[in-house]
Amino acid sequence: MSTPKSERILVTSALPYINGVKHMGNLAGSMLPADVYSRAMRLMGHEVLYICATDEHGTPAELAAAEAGLSVSDYCDKMHTAQAEAGANFKLSYDYFGRSSSEATRRLTQDFALALEANGFLEERTSKQVYSVADGRYLPDRYVEGTCPNCAFEGARGDQCDNCGKLLDPVDLINPYSAVSGSHEVEIRDTNHLYLKQSDMSNKLRAWVETHRADWPTLTTSIAMKWLDEGLRDRAITRDLDWGIPVVDADGNVREGFDGKVFYVWFDAPIAYIGATQDWAAQDHVKATGGAWEKFWRTDKGADSTRYVQFMGKDNVAFHTLSFPTTIMGSGQPWKLVDELKAFNWVTWYGGKFSTSQKRGVFMDQAIDIAPSDYWRWHLMANAPESSDAAFTWEDFQASINSDLANVLGNFVNRITSYCVKKFDGKVPAGGAITDAEKWIENELAERLPRLISFYETREFRKAMAETRAIWAAGNEYLTQAAPWTHYKTDVDQAAMGVRVGLNLVALFGILAQPITPDAAEKILDAMNIPEGNRSWKFGDVSNVAALLDALPHGLEISAPPVLFTKIEAEDIEAWTEKFGGAV
Ligand code: MF3
Ligand code: ZN
Repeated sequence: MSTPKSERILVTSALPYINGVKHMGNLAGSMLPADVYSRAMRLMGHEVLYICATDEHGTPAELAAAEAGLSVSDYCDKMHTAQAEAGANFKLSYDYFGRSSSEATRRLTQDFALALEANGFLEERTSKQVYSVADGRYLPDRYVEGTCPNCAFEGARGDQCDNCGKLLDPVDLINPYSAVSGSHEVEIRDTNHLYLKQSDMSNKLRAWVETHRADWPTLTTSIAMKWLDEGLRDRAITRDLDWGIPVVDADGNVREGFDGKVFYVWFDAPIAYIGATQDWAAQDHVKATGGAWEKFWRTDKGADSTRYVQFMGKDNVAFHTLSFPTTIMGSGQPWKLVDELKAFNWVTWYGGKFSTSQKRGVFMDQAIDIAPSDYWRWHLMANAPESSDAAFTWEDFQASINSDLANVLGNFVNRITSYCVKKFDGKVPAGGAITDAEKWIENELAERLPRLISFYETREFRKAMAETRAIWAAGNEYLTQAAPWTHYKTDVDQAAMGVRVGLNLVALFGILAQPITPDAAEKILDAMNIPEGNRSWKFGDVSNVAALLDALPHGLEISAPPVLFTKIEAEDIEAWTEKFGGAV
């Protein structure tokens, strides 16, 4: 049920790797639901801060930069801009879209490591790494490729086999070679690294995950528990690489023996949630309004009354329930832990993997040339991969747009607004008596609206979308029952009742559409002449549904909005299938 007071909510979505614009599956499993949730909570009057950033370190960044023929830092600048643009095109309402390469994240990462070491959670150990003689360098993670020891796949990467999915240690690869030069002249050498002693944190982590059994999705707790049950292993949090955050001692000098080494990307990336929040707070316009990052992150400075909600794909869950919490808890400092963690399964492309090289699937920059962002937002959320993987198909996409958006919502809005323009001079009419039809829609809404709000609050997106669709359908059913066009011939007053309630439903639908299809919502609310300041819905107040159905001032001038949704034709599907793949 709705919460009757304003809460402070911090929202983050997993930070997208810098190495390329994300595909629609990535969008659907982290950034988009985080955005829809943030918008819904803002709509209801909560104080929301939605933070995201590009994840810029690690071997993926270096390798992609080399392939693009750019320095890593130029490459990151360029791709950060591209990803920020893609996010803006999809109307992702980040309060801040930062970068893990920022100064704030560097400082925090180095400080966390020092605190962890002081508390006994870091240890320097000697380990075996693949070294390329031809390249004169170590080959961490994706820099080395070879044959998978698990499934014999020949193109396995050092950190993971793309064929069987197993996480690997580069030294386990059979017949290893350098991904930089292709040279097979490699040897195993000793090198020192810092290890995060996750094993020492197991009991504390388990107890903490247990406290969330009831409120986290099963997908989240089962992944965390699987790792804990298998026994947490200590992990190296540094790598032999140039690109990344240098490892320093307490004086800020490079740690002895750590020249040419940096922190592992998965150590600093989650810390960038905090760094990006600091970068958000450092902006002039935020400072001017007294914004501070501490109330979101420091439990000694207000963050204990902040609700922190994370969104991510299932492959990220272990890092957010085990290693990042080890960093937080092990620091011994009052940092905020996540309160609610929403994880998603995969969106597949007709049941298979997205692949750029094989032209399977659509990426964010291409998608926006295919259809407006509202269409994607609606379809992806209505089919969110919540309880299992969800296959994207052009046919389902077409059905979502043509039947849900165009037929159910679009037609409703168009039908009643243009009728009002034609017969009532484009003004919200007064008059008419309440009939069974008005009582019916009032009851429908009294039941459905609280349900819709609670689905948003529990982040059950498929259910929230299904409820939204049912509310639109109820609007159409109301018009059929009230039939203002029939009454008009004999009783203009009674027709006015149907038109007035219909227009108020349009306004309500416009308000409710804001988290999901913000462009259409804006067109609807503009057409209904609803001032900017009146487009929210305080805590989803449903105490007086009758008032919601007579909220527009009588006599208010309205117009019919421009076409909201254009139907997708069979030819479109054919062309897209040819270009991006589909059913064969
Ligand atoms: N870049 C990672 C991925 O795309 C996600 C990082 S989430 C963070 O899988 F917490 F580490 F930032
Ligand atoms: Zn394998």
